[in-house]
Amino acid sequence: MRPPRALAAARLVSQLDEFIHASRLGGASLGEGKWVFSFVMTDPHSQYIERRLEFTRLLDPALVERGVLQHFFVSPVRPVKPLHPRDIRAAWQRLRADIRAERTPELLSLYVHIPFCAHRCRYCIYYSVAAEGLDQVETYLKRLHDEIDYYASGLSGVEFCNCYIGGGTPTVLQEAHLEQLLTHLERAFVRKRGGEWSFECNPATVTEAKAELFRDHGFNRVSFGVQSLSPKVLAGVGRGYQTRRQVVETIRIMRRCNFWINVDLIHGLPGQTSTSLLESVEELLALEPTQVTIYGLSPYTPMTLEPDDRESLSQLAPRVNALARTFGYACLDWATCLELNRNSFRPSGGLERSPPRITNLLIAEHKRYGMLGGYNDTTVEPFSLLGLGPTARSYVYGQLQYTSNRDPVDVPWMPDVAQAVGRSLDMDEERRRFVVAGLERPDGLDPVEYEALFGEPLEDHFGQELSCGVERGLLETVQDRIQRKPQEPEARFAATLLFVDDPTLDLALKDLAGAQSGPNASGEDLSGGGDRARAGADLALVLYTHGQEVVVHLTDHWPGRQSYHHKGDFAFFLPSTLPEGSCESGTQNAKLLATFTRVFDRVVVRESPTDLQDLHRLLLARTGR
Ligand SMILES: C[S@@+](CC[C@H](N)C(=O)[O-])C[C@H]1O[C@@H](n2cnc3c(N)ncnc32)[C@H](O)[C@@H]1O
Ligand code: SF4
Repeated sequence: MRPPRALAAARLVSQLDEFIHASRLGGASLGEGKWVFSFVMTDPHSQYIERRLEFTRLLDPALVERGVLQHFFVSPVRPVKPLHPRDIRAAWQRLRADIRAERTPELLSLYVHIPFCAHRCRYCIYYSVAAEGLDQVETYLKRLHDEIDYYASGLSGVEFCNCYIGGGTPTVLQEAHLEQLLTHLERAFVRKRGGEWSFECNPATVTEAKAELFRDHGFNRVSFGVQSLSPKVLAGVGRGYQTRRQVVETIRIMRRCNFWINVDLIHGLPGQTSTSLLESVEELLALEPTQVTIYGLSPYTPMTLEPDDRESLSQLAPRVNALARTFGYACLDWATCLELNRNSFRPSGGLERSPPRITNLLIAEHKRYGMLGGYNDTTVEPFSLLGLGPTARSYVYGQLQYTSNRDPVDVPWMPDVAQAVGRSLDMDEERRRFVVAGLERPDGLDPVEYEALFGEPLEDHFGQELSCGVERGLLETVQDRIQRKPQEPEARFAATLLFVDDPTLDLALKDLAGAQSGPNASGEDLSGGGDRARAGADLALVLYTHGQEVVVHLTDHWPGRQSYHHKGDFAFFLPSTLPEGSCESGTQNAKLLATFTRVFDRVVVRESPTDLQDLHRLLLARTGR
């Protein structure tokens, strides 16, 4: 018989075991004659969530605000490698075969980049230069036409649902050039009926004739920037030329063409206050565009960002929403912007009714053919996206994701040289991307849509993540859709992170460590945290201009880094120490870099350097003092 003390101990141990089992904590051990308990945290949910909360805490709050989709899927943290046009075209050909065999959804988008602007704005993250004469524009168009022909030949017979001609500023092109481009596109690609055909313009460069040209080529949507209606704010960002009159006139022209009209504003510009932003919103809504998009200033802006204690865009959202309602607009709160639509948004997606005073053909078309969906360069599934021109993003569903090189505008199309960096995609990532994009929608993730697309219930693949999210109060079901429960940006980010797998999170953490110790690279918003990181120099080269010097860092290992420019197997970077504005088009530095880029391309393509040392030697011979 056991002594009473031992009985009590046995009871305690069994109670503890129950407790441990119920709370899913790890094992306990009882020492001989003394009470020693050790608990091992083995709850997979706790560890899984802790890692995600820890990652969120480490990330720059500006990146947290922009969401998981941007951070992990648009600008992937996974390594990328140089891609040759033949490999890219082969992926598109496989997609065409899959579409024909009905193995993949037939939803394709087209993007065409026009890298010219009349003036560069200081905040802008997109790649463009001030056009230096007609020759340069014609050389670029020739390159673009060659690129179009190259890929169109692999996609014959496939229909595109939507098209977006962006930049830059497409309306900087003269009418004759626009006509050539639009005709070329029309001949090269088949257009699905009822799709969205969209172009960008700038209020200072649009004319009625150019707008009509787009309309006559079947375009039905326009998007242009206003950014602010405050002359002081505009002057501070190099956009002081824009007048209120131009904005009013642009909307009038676009309405006459019966376009769906989107106008952009930016929150967070220097000198802007919450009041001046709300005034701009109000003035703009009074002009009755179809849609107003208010972007949060991107953390990748080339401007120096002052520490900022004004209200964030999500804090301002309720006031914007109230204002929008008084004008008959509904406000959608996306991760990177607030979107005000003249049409109410149904939870099932899609547009409900046309606005009372504007006959918008597009809405009728959408209704008649079912919503095909508009262009979105963050590619909310299941679209594939063919991007043409430097810095364009592309996405071959289930196969490949890539970004075209940031080539100077007068480099011809070279099908034998790597023209992009990218990586392959698989169906596991497609599922995760779909779920993440769904959770970041204002109305949440639709499990029915998921099942229709992937042929299995959401729980089959994500049962653990879902139960973990619900148990910890991070996810909830509202009207059959799955939404994130918390309101704070950090907790919402962590809730979405449940659907990012551990190996990807490991890479992101490694990347973050690199970003915190290494220099930042300059550039446009083609990168997430991943691409900003690890811009370590391999070999430096100093260029001189008018007594000043610019250091470029040469490398043959840039996957995952943001490069200023790459060609073939080599790339070069700019250090973050360049003074602000020193690379703006027209400055000595910009001219020097443009010349250097040409020399760099020529050396890489014609002299085929064997390694970095060889490239360094060849470049030194051509550029050294
Ligand atoms: C490619 S630009 C084309 C706009 C057109 N060229 C114009 O200026 O009217 C599209 C939009 O990107 C947005 N954008 C550019 N830089 C940005 C930044 N740093 N942060 C947030 N949005 C930005 C602007 O709102 C702009 O209207
Ligand atoms: S906002 Fe428009 S006009 Fe200004 S630099 Fe960017 S693309 Fe050009």
